[in-house]
Amino acid sequence: MKELALYIHIPFCISKCYYCDFNSFSNKKLLIPDYIYYLINEIKLYKDKLEDYTIKTIFFGGGTPSSIEAIYIGKVLETIHENLNVDNLEEISIEVNPKTIDGEKVKIYKEMGINRISIGCQSLRDDILTKIGRVHNSKDFYETYNLLRKYDFSNINVDLMFGLPGQTRDDLFFTLEEVVNLGVEHISFYSLIIEEGTKYYDWYKDGEIILPDEEEERNMYHDGVKYLKSKCYEHYEISNLAKKGYACKHNLFYWTLKPYIGVGLGSHSNIWGKRYWNHESFREYFESLSTNKLPISGEETIDREMEIAEYLILGLRLVQGIDKKDFLNRFKVSIDGIYGEVFDKHKENGLIYIDDKSIRLTEKGLDLCNLVFVDLLP
Ligand SMILES: C[S@@+](CC[C@H](N)C(=O)[O-])C[C@H]1O[C@@H](n2cnc3c(N)ncnc32)[C@H](O)[C@@H]1O
Ligand code: SF4
Repeated sequence: MKELALYIHIPFCISKCYYCDFNSFSNKKLLIPDYIYYLINEIKLYKDKLEDYTIKTIFFGGGTPSSIEAIYIGKVLETIHENLNVDNLEEISIEVNPKTIDGEKVKIYKEMGINRISIGCQSLRDDILTKIGRVHNSKDFYETYNLLRKYDFSNINVDLMFGLPGQTRDDLFFTLEEVVNLGVEHISFYSLIIEEGTKYYDWYKDGEIILPDEEEERNMYHDGVKYLKSKCYEHYEISNLAKKGYACKHNLFYWTLKPYIGVGLGSHSNIWGKRYWNHESFREYFESLSTNKLPISGEETIDREMEIAEYLILGLRLVQGIDKKDFLNRFKVSIDGIYGEVFDKHKENGLIYIDDKSIRLTEKGLDLCNLVFVDLLP
């Protein structure tokens, strides 16, 4: 049996954060029952197609999966258990927002076998949470965290952001120290990206928000990572740190280019030598599924050259880099044979480190990774 990761998209939020361009809606609550009905149909359509696959990880992402009734999450999991092979399932994650959680939900998550929780926290300074349009305050975060521990969740991630308008180094370190003292197992540490179509995009363009300058932002990243490493978190991917044994298994599927299926609005899949993506509009998504068709909006075939480039780019995001032997086993060709010149160039300018066994980005390379990645594209 081949191994597979399954992503399930829940595109609902209580309100839209000012920086977020994810495929999620705060004004479509009435669609939730229909959405779950069609999502379940979509999963059933994979029953025959995935006969040779065993699911290793499931990830409920969004949007805010915790913003819908837990019973819906239960129905989706039940459908997966009834239609797909889950004999080797190791990790079931769900993303939660502090304002959307209560004891009843957490209890149901536990009973359903969810074993990893990712809390959207971003910051523990209330003024910053207000400025970025979050619906919760720091107290809500602590309550959510304590509730999860009360129900024995032992694998908790916290999403944090830096480079936010008005955020000082002190604000960031206050938050980092708090989550470290709580003892969270995993930290996703994201630099703010100003995305087109968000409130922040317009405000930034009009000069209404001021961001920390580039040097300050990079210092926040380096000093933050350094601090977390000093507290026994392993820096295993550009934006992710975890205590030993707690790296996110689901995301490792993406980063090592192993097969994954995404179900739900706008989800992406990568399997059978193809990459394809679902409709992003509810109307088209529902229409396809009401005629028992997978709601696929587009696809592309990944040729060998592209697969190699993606394998390298994703692999180099991992701090341990790429194992030369793994590359040889997968592509039946030596990595130095194809990219020797590119690697020599970036070794010279200090962006990559190469030895007999592996290739990885240096600390400077992790910062300037796009300069390397652009040279790897076919
Ligand atoms: C789907 S949300 C997590 C769950 C839930 N929706 C929440 O926000 O509480 C995924 C995470 O992506 C990060 N994120 C979203 N938009 C971002 C942006 N423009 N720049 C950097 N990080 C971003 C945030 O840290 C957020 O917690
Ligand atoms: S960050 Fe999370 S809660 Fe905020 S809009 Fe995006 S998906 Fe929704």
